[in-house]
Amino acid sequence: MVQTVAWIVSLIFMLLITAVFGFVAFKSKEKRDYEPIKKKWYKARTFYGATLVVVMLIITIYTLRELPYNQPVYGAGNDPTIVDVEAIQFGWKMSETEFKVGEPIEFHVTSTDVTHGFGIYDSELNLIAQTQAMPDYTNKVYITFDKPGTYDVLCLEYCGLAHHLMIGKIVITE
Ligand code: CUA
Repeated sequence: MVQTVAWIVSLIFMLLITAVFGFVAFKSKEKRDYEPIKKKWYKARTFYGATLVVVMLIITIYTLRELPYNQPVYGAGNDPTIVDVEAIQFGWKMSETEFKVGEPIEFHVTSTDVTHGFGIYDSELNLIAQTQAMPDYTNKVYITFDKPGTYDVLCLEYCGLAHHLMIGKIVITE
């Protein structure tokens, strides 16, 4: 749905740009006195420039106000399970790997050597959550699994010869 809308909007803009280019190309042979045109369009440029700045400012303030995005709201008596994750060439050290469906989990992800990528995949190998594992930083990923099963933790960043062997498992039960 979103893609269809994006495609239609893109198409409209493409047609619009083509029309403008066509118009300019068509009119480019005409000779006219430059000064009055210049004055008029300098004014328009100032107006549109200022409008753009104002509109962008409003959008920026409006969209940044909820930073950081996707902070979970757990509710009373529903504290998340904190799981410490350490990436190391070439494996994952996790303080816990078995969880329940519906259990809110916060993975606190770091690395002891180089930068890795912490990616959680479901059984069909769809990426369902990810963050970078960086030395001296702790990145958080919030997730609540809604299906039982075995999930793979794969490294998303090339980190050395055995990068492809960095595979961990998470088991979710009912
Ligand atoms: Cu760790 Cu790639």
